[in-house]
Amino acid sequence: MEQMILIIDFGSQYNQLIARRVRECKVYCQIEPPAIPVDDILSLNPKGIILSGGPLSIYEKYSPTIDNAIFDLGIPILGICYGMQYMVAALGGAVKRAHKGEYGFAELRIKQKNVLFNHVDSPTTCWMSHGDSIEKLPRGFQITGSTDNTKIASTEDVKNRLYGLQFHPEVHHTVNGKRMLKNFLVDVCECKSTWSMKSFAVESIAQIKDTVKEKRVILGLSGGVDSSVSAMLIHKAIGKRLTGIFIDNGLLRKNEGEKLQTTLKERLKLNIRFVSAKKRFLTPLANVTDPEKKRKIIGKVFMDVFEIEAKKIKGVEYLAQGTLYPDVIESRSVFGGPTSVIKSHHNVGGLPKKMKLKLVEPLKYLFKDEVRQLGLEMGLPDELVWRQPFPGPGLAVRIIGKITPKRLKIVRAADDVLLEEIKKAGYYRKLWQSFAVLLPIKSVGVMGDQRTYENIIVVRAVTSKDAMTADWAKLPQKLLGSISNRIINEVGGVNRVVYDISSKPPSTIEWE
Ligand code: XMP
Repeated sequence: MEQMILIIDFGSQYNQLIARRVRECKVYCQIEPPAIPVDDILSLNPKGIILSGGPLSIYEKYSPTIDNAIFDLGIPILGICYGMQYMVAALGGAVKRAHKGEYGFAELRIKQKNVLFNHVDSPTTCWMSHGDSIEKLPRGFQITGSTDNTKIASTEDVKNRLYGLQFHPEVHHTVNGKRMLKNFLVDVCECKSTWSMKSFAVESIAQIKDTVKEKRVILGLSGGVDSSVSAMLIHKAIGKRLTGIFIDNGLLRKNEGEKLQTTLKERLKLNIRFVSAKKRFLTPLANVTDPEKKRKIIGKVFMDVFEIEAKKIKGVEYLAQGTLYPDVIESRSVFGGPTSVIKSHHNVGGLPKKMKLKLVEPLKYLFKDEVRQLGLEMGLPDELVWRQPFPGPGLAVRIIGKITPKRLKIVRAADDVLLEEIKKAGYYRKLWQSFAVLLPIKSVGVMGDQRTYENIIVVRAVTSKDAMTADWAKLPQKLLGSISNRIINEVGGVNRVVYDISSKPPSTIEWE
């Protein structure tokens, strides 16, 4: 990247937020662990470095450290919370252990005109979350702001372009936090604020060309946004030398494969193999009811089918994956070096080693919303870009109990009606997921003058940020009513619809 900011990850829960904020200022940034060697920092050539917060005190035995040579590189540095305390202690100041911490809102009184506080009026509300405090500053540093409880709430050494904030500018509770970060990026580090998904695409395409050269790449397409956007980028870089493999496992939603075929193959001219492997999946699943067994079988068959297809393409040297940045960050510990994860639900985890393939992960520095933006930038339709997540094992984990063709037909039809209603009511993009689940019990009903004994469909709709926690969606009663009416009227074999009102935890999003 032409201009970048390096964020050193001391383990704060807010680190990804720092990265988000920097990127919102249209500056590219990367999060790296503290163990990053100074030579690697130099080769990244950052315009500035942000030292993040962290959960430990700098005095703890295993608290993370960096090579203090970074303070002599002449690169501007902003320390946040732990990062500030670490810098101050490393440069000869003193940090006192806390008797009482400071958590929550505080009013920052700006003591001295300071580039970080350009366009920020005093006092300004900030968000504190610290135990230890700074007692003595190193030579060359000035206090620039204080709160009632923290005398040294912000500091600077103008000559060496070193800055520290005890509070967290990245959280939105710090009212002018984004302004402060922008001041650091633009006024101190002289970044240009020109990074965008358009510029990312140009650089990424050039990089893929450069890496892959004349070789071939394969990629598993799931129908979701990550694999589709990866495919688009690689396609733009190497054209037909990318083969996307889409496997129809018989557990997809209505018309899913067809829609993908129309969009990616016919409209966008991607080189894609559609593999129909329904039988290969459904036969071994025939009498299986245990959810984990279902997953294992699906994973194994997927891998076998994918490998057979991959081997049909001569000269393949690379496997592409739609790994995203949060997975990369979360997979490395604060104390270790970077390691790249292979998403387990892609089910091809073992393939690179087995087939001696190298990985291409064009999205590994992007967050989900950036991937969506990139998808739109590259001409993918809204429907694909905003698709709700769909699990790898598909409808298999939404049919509780045995998977039979008849039960697949019921859940698929119910799901289709449900999604149509959700979309019509304008709720599709507001929900993390919304889907139908088929239960393994029947209930009594009455249709016309006839007693019925038929299936029950559960409607599951949740809101969530990252699927780690989720809340059941408070859908309007009218919408729930029309979903229920339509499913019972239009889907043969269903006489009852219920709404799942459990949150995660203690429940999960999927039923299996
Ligand atoms: P749960 O049900 O654990 O799901 O709350 C969290 C998120 O993960 C998805 N999910 C899966 N995705 N393979 C996948 O690719 C799986 O086996 C799987 N199980 C759950 C689920 O849809 C939700 O978004």
